Amino acid sequence: MSQAFDVVVIGGGPGGYIAAIRAAQLGFQVACIDEWKNGKGGPAPGGTCTNVGCIPSKALLQSSEHFEHANKHFADHGISVSDVKIDVAKMLARKDSVVKQNNDGILYLFKKNKVTFFHGRGSFTKAEAGAYEIKVAGAKEESITGKHIILATGSNARALPGVPFDEETVLSNDGALRVGAVPKKLALIGSGVIGLEMGSVWRRLGAEVTILEGLPTFLGAVDEQIAKEAKKAFDKQGLKIELGVKVGEVKAGKGGVSVAYTNAKGEAQQLDVDKLIVSIGRVPNTIGLNGEAVGLKLDERGAIVVDDDCKTSLPNVWAIGDVVRGPMLAHKAEEEGVAVAERIAGQHGHVNFNTVPWVIYTSPEIAWVGRTEQQLKADGVAYKAGTFPFLANGRARALGDTTGMVKFLADAKTDEILGVHMVGPQVSELISEAVVAMEFKASAEDIARICHAHPSLSEATKEAALAVDKRTLNF
Ligand code: FAD
Ligand code: NAI
Repeated sequence: MSQAFDVVVIGGGPGGYIAAIRAAQLGFQVACIDEWKNGKGGPAPGGTCTNVGCIPSKALLQSSEHFEHANKHFADHGISVSDVKIDVAKMLARKDSVVKQNNDGILYLFKKNKVTFFHGRGSFTKAEAGAYEIKVAGAKEESITGKHIILATGSNARALPGVPFDEETVLSNDGALRVGAVPKKLALIGSGVIGLEMGSVWRRLGAEVTILEGLPTFLGAVDEQIAKEAKKAFDKQGLKIELGVKVGEVKAGKGGVSVAYTNAKGEAQQLDVDKLIVSIGRVPNTIGLNGEAVGLKLDERGAIVVDDDCKTSLPNVWAIGDVVRGPMLAHKAEEEGVAVAERIAGQHGHVNFNTVPWVIYTSPEIAWVGRTEQQLKADGVAYKAGTFPFLANGRARALGDTTGMVKFLADAKTDEILGVHMVGPQVSELISEAVVAMEFKASAEDIARICHAHPSLSEATKEAALAVDKRTLNF
């Protein structure tokens, strides 16, 4: 006799585990199936985000930033340190322990919320009598049923055609997070989010880093003024970014990798490096789900087809997160998970795609929400812009990090905030204020009139809002 559940979630990443918890809070009998294994073969829920994504990358960004500060910035504060060394094994062990704390935290949350966790691969077997039968293939094989199924199977790194990841010399995000020694020379293909974050980690630790980007524009989805400012900072740091390249043959051997490419001028080039990270986007993952058994529809990219409410082509089957359309972000997956659980309960769960923030955790950090100036121009929207540089912010000066700016874009007539763009120190935290403001349909003047603590970086947000009306007080 199969165990019967109201809701079965397949995938325990940020989309799936949050959906499971919310569904359990709403009174459903919930199962969550996740197949990720830790180094000992045990369960490691949390998906890409926890195991090889958001969390470990931020742990390494933090370690490498400390290293860079000790080497380059402590002296400005009168602190002398000599012979600063990086113990890569220790840094990786710390990262692994941060990951484990998060894995364990999720298992604890499942217990607390009475979510039944299954460690193994979940796949459809059949649909019968208003429920779906799901096979769980783990240490043992069992069968469970669910009236509602939430698919949250995530995504995998895209490989270059004909160049498979060996995770020794040709690395995906997985291998990039466990390089055992600082490579002398490192190449990355793709100067998107992973390229910049992982490129920064290994550059700070001493690698000579070159990023090869196919597009002629740097960070095309980012506001142009902000992207330009960020590029200037990366150039100064020695992060070499070549735009408009065409990658040709990639030859990987035990000793390293050789990448043939054509540069923006059309000249043939060759780059010989110790390691290559391929960060050219991710592909939705439905491997092993056996969706064919029940007629689950996929689009041409392999993503599960869903409507605005995350309903798939099948009754009572929902899909969320990286495996469906929309930005591949952990917080987007989580919001969809909550919304779907609430819809199953007959409530009106909603995700506002216009206010999903983006953050790139480089130094300077880059963060934004809403539309860019180039998008507003293309859409023919009349807007006003206001910017404020961190150079004129007292807290940034005290921190010793005055790179970048905050930029507001507001409707020319109504003053409603249409987009906020930031590059600079700790803007990953500052962006929340802009998200809240946009959710509440605030005007730039609303932010300009709110009291912000002094001295704080958030004063740059207030000042940029004031700048929309050309009345900054400190610049
Ligand atoms: P996933 O996290 O991919 O989880 C899917 C889970 O389902 C996995 O555990 C997988 O093993 C499991 N699974 C798949 N198929 C089955 C099956 N048939 N049966 C059982 N289990 C199955 N996003 C951010 O918002 N901020 C960041 O800072 C950030 N940094 C990132 C850094 C890197 C290096 C990478 C690669 C990604 C990063 N992301 C970041 C993106 C983020 O990780 C994803 O958007 C997020 O993990 C998607 O969540 P998900 O739940 O949809 O899928
Ligand atoms: P990406 O989409 O951010 O960037 C890929 C880059 O590779 C693009 O600039 C693209 O033009 C380039 N590219 C594609 N094919 C190429 C080729 N053949 N040759 C040269 N360049 C090529 O993808 P990335 O960096 O792999 O990250 C995947 C996703 O993971 C991100 O889009 C994001 O959703 C998520 N992520 C989020 C993070 C965050 O929120 N801080 C951090 C890391 C990843």
